[in-house]
Amino acid sequence: MPTTLVSGGTVVSSTGRHTADVLIDGEKIVAVLDPGSTVLGSDLKRTVDTVVDATGKYVFPGGIDAHTHMEMPFGGTVASDSFETGTRAAAWGGTTTIIDFSVQTVGQQLMDCLGNWHDKARGECAIDYAFHQIVGDVTPDTLAAMKKLPDEGVSSYKMFMAYPGVYYSTDDKIFKAMRIAADEGLMTMVHAENGPVIDAMVEELLAQGKSDPYYHGVARAWQMEEEATHRAIMLSDLTGAPLYIVHVSAKQAVEQLAAARDRGMNVFGETCPQYLYMSLEEQLGAPGFEGAKYVCSTPLRSHAEGHQHYMWQSLRTNDVQMVATDHCPFCMKGQKDMGVGDFSKIPNGIGSVEHRMDLMYQGVVDKKITLERFVEITSTTPARMFGMYGKKGVIAPGADADIVVYDPNGHTKIGINDTHHMRMDYSAWEGYEIDGHVDTVLSRGRVIIDGNQYLGSKGHGQFVRRGQSQYLQ
Ligand code: URP
Ligand code: ZN
Ligand code: ZN
Repeated sequence: MPTTLVSGGTVVSSTGRHTADVLIDGEKIVAVLDPGSTVLGSDLKRTVDTVVDATGKYVFPGGIDAHTHMEMPFGGTVASDSFETGTRAAAWGGTTTIIDFSVQTVGQQLMDCLGNWHDKARGECAIDYAFHQIVGDVTPDTLAAMKKLPDEGVSSYKMFMAYPGVYYSTDDKIFKAMRIAADEGLMTMVHAENGPVIDAMVEELLAQGKSDPYYHGVARAWQMEEEATHRAIMLSDLTGAPLYIVHVSAKQAVEQLAAARDRGMNVFGETCPQYLYMSLEEQLGAPGFEGAKYVCSTPLRSHAEGHQHYMWQSLRTNDVQMVATDHCPFCMKGQKDMGVGDFSKIPNGIGSVEHRMDLMYQGVVDKKITLERFVEITSTTPARMFGMYGKKGVIAPGADADIVVYDPNGHTKIGINDTHHMRMDYSAWEGYEIDGHVDTVLSRGRVIIDGNQYLGSKGHGQFVRRGQSQYLQ
């Protein structure tokens, strides 16, 4: 098996950092050694097949993006990244594993949907991938099939309190699914927004002629995120099912999570880069139809109300446990422009899979989080949360050799001159600059990004069978 030495870098974990050489045999890390160590008298730099010089650079465990939607049917169209293009873009940005969502809508058998998602991803991915299951039709068949998810390596599922008529489930359905989840050790993920009330708000606003993208944010008021988060927590409390709230953007929703955690509940929260960097006023309120680029749900929140600052603070204090992208890209032409004159017809979603690691690293530079916390929220916690830790999320003997060599002296200009690799005709992140750069990326021992060269290939990425959340064991 080919051997690789990542030499002389600062290896960073969620608990500390030290200068070390990382020895890789085939797909696995076999040793983390003092720099320049010899093995059985031989100089490793001379004997390994490949040396990656990481001197003066950070060595991170590969990024894990636990919330992506490749090829997802949504809003009358389909998310523009395929598994091939989306995972290649992820690789460019130092993400080496994604967890995507297999979709069930009304009338479909759950296991058929999972099979369908395997068919979409198999042989296409540049990096490893896993699945959560969206449960969109709670029937006796679905509830029975949910019990089989752990055997399929799928230990989490998502339900929606939003999007009536599409993925929406009523509270009784969520309750029934949570009963199964509590017994089977499944993690329940909830999109927590009060969909029916939001739809009534949309109707009101459109009737008043308020049709610009900005009103997407007005219709999806924080009160409806706080209320739904509280409701999901109460259902979790009643059933004993562990709960993970996706794409949290409102500070009041975080307060609900923090209060429940203080009571000892197994509830967790994820936020996304857009809720840390972007706002209702600045991006959704951009002139003309520009705001459509930033339409996603939950929506961007008001800067004046301080949600962004609060979200960074919550990442520091662990009231929010991790950062995923909710990567759900749509082009402006032919997709987002379906909503010209009616914001409710703009497909919801932002593409960020390529930029999460850089954007969160900038939080380190800006002294909003520590380097160790950066590793924790982008890799280690996602691995633990979703039952992959040990194989993923850590640089240690026995782990997959998913590694990012990151140059703190490098510089990244996002999306300038079409330099991003997501299948989109714009980037919501165009113009953002990062004081650092992804230098080299290894996926299961293979160098897939080398400087500004892509060396990966479709089909290299394998399906990762996940176990129970390691926060529940
Ligand atoms: O706007 C979003 N979040 N689009 C993707 C679907 C979802 O709710 O996660
Ligand atoms: Zn959602
Ligand atoms: Zn999503």
